[in-house]
Amino acid sequence: MSEHVQFNQKLIDFLDASVSKYHAVSEITKLLTQNGFMRLEERDSWSLEKGGKYFVVRNNSSIIAFVNGEISPQETGLSIVGAHTDSPSLMLKPNPIIRNSGYIQLGVEVYGGALLKPWFDRDLSIAGRIFVRDKTGELSERLVDLENPIGFIPSLAIHLNRDANGNSPINAQTDILPILSQENLSDDLTGSPLEELLKSQFMDPEDSLLAHDLCLYDTQPASVVGLSNEFIASRCLDNLVSCYTGIEALLGSSHGKLSMVVLNDHEEVGSLSTTGADGPFLESIIRRLCKSWIDCDEEVVKARSMVLSCDNAHAVHPNFSDKHDPNHRPLLNRGIVIKYNAKQRYATDGFSAAFFKDLCEEDIAVQSFVSRNDMPCGSTIGPLTAGKIGVRAIDIGISQLAMHSCREIIGARDPLYLYKALGKFFSIEQ
Ligand code: CO
Repeated sequence: MSEHVQFNQKLIDFLDASVSKYHAVSEITKLLTQNGFMRLEERDSWSLEKGGKYFVVRNNSSIIAFVNGEISPQETGLSIVGAHTDSPSLMLKPNPIIRNSGYIQLGVEVYGGALLKPWFDRDLSIAGRIFVRDKTGELSERLVDLENPIGFIPSLAIHLNRDANGNSPINAQTDILPILSQENLSDDLTGSPLEELLKSQFMDPEDSLLAHDLCLYDTQPASVVGLSNEFIASRCLDNLVSCYTGIEALLGSSHGKLSMVVLNDHEEVGSLSTTGADGPFLESIIRRLCKSWIDCDEEVVKARSMVLSCDNAHAVHPNFSDKHDPNHRPLLNRGIVIKYNAKQRYATDGFSAAFFKDLCEEDIAVQSFVSRNDMPCGSTIGPLTAGKIGVRAIDIGISQLAMHSCREIIGARDPLYLYKALGKFFSIEQ
C-alpha cells in the first residue's frame, strides 16, 4: 500500500470521529495521550522536564501540544504549527424547537461563512456538548453525538420556485430549518422532543439539561473518490486536515528543540475569544514555557521563533477558472500552497516564503496563491498570531475545492506532503 493511502486511512478515521470541534479535540487528546504526552492544567503550576511531551486544552475546543526542548528555547526559538478546530456549520439556538405545519423543526444559527446550499437534502445528525446538573447538584459537561440521521432540510420543489436554478437567495432565518419529525395530535406540546432524545441517551432521569453547544453535521462518512482514487471528500476538511497532520508531525518530532502545535477555535468567526488566535492562549503558554527555563528571555525566544499557519487554500475550479489570478491557480495533488496577500490577510512575505521554499527544497512541491485584485481575500490565524505575539509567520495549506461546503474536496496526495513539510519544519534549525 502506498504511503499516502496509509496516511489517509488514519486521517479518514479521524475525520469521521470528529463530528464536532469538541470531538476533534477529544480525538487529538487521545492520540497525544497514547503517544506519551502529559496533560497540563492551566489552573495548576507546572514543572516541565527537558524533552517532556505536554498538552494544554482550553474550553475543550482548542489545544496546544508541545515537545519541550533539551536546551533552552532562548537558544533555539520555537517551531510552531498553527491551525483551527472549527468549521462553518449550523448551530442549534438555545430554545431550538419550532412547531410548524405539522412538523417539528429546529431553529439554527449559521456559524461562520457557511455555504448554505449544500446543506439541503442531506441526512443530518447532531453533535457537540451539553451541560447537565445531576441530582446531587453537580454540573458536568458531556460530549454528545446522536450518530443516527435524525433530520434533513428539504429543498423546495422547482415547481414551487421556478427561479430555483436562477437568482434565488437563501434566507438563513426561514429557509434552512431542519425537519426532525412529524407532530402527533396526541403530543404533549410543552415538552421538547430533542431534550427527550438527549435524556434517553446521555442523561439520567433526574438530570436537568442547562445548556448546549450543538451543531448539525452531515452523516455521510468521508470517502476516497475519483477514477484513480485521487480525491478525498468529507466534511470539515478545512481545517481538520491541518489539525490532524500537524499533530501527527509533532508525534514524530524529537529533535531537541521546542516544537509546538496550536489549534485554535473560532477562526471562522473572527478569532477574538479566550480560545481564538486573537486571544491570549498561545502567548500565555509561551510565557509559562519561558518561565520554566532559567534565564530565558521571552522576547529573545519570540524573535527566534516561527509560526507555520496551516489552513486550506482555494484550488482552481475547472468550471470557474477565471475566479483565480491566471498565474496563481493551485491544483489538487500538486503540493503545498503558499498564500500571499499584500494587505497581510495572509502573513506571508518574501522572507517567510523563501524560508518555506528552502525547507521544502526538491522533495515537496510548492504552489502559490494570491487572490484577484477585484475579489476580497479570506484570512487565517496567521496574521492574527503574528500581530498578537510578534512572531514571524507564513500562511500555507493544501488546496481544496468547495471550501465551506458541508462536503469539501482535497487531493489524496496532499496531506502526506503537508505532513512531510511539517516534519522537516520541526527538525531544522532556524
Ligand atoms: Co480554514
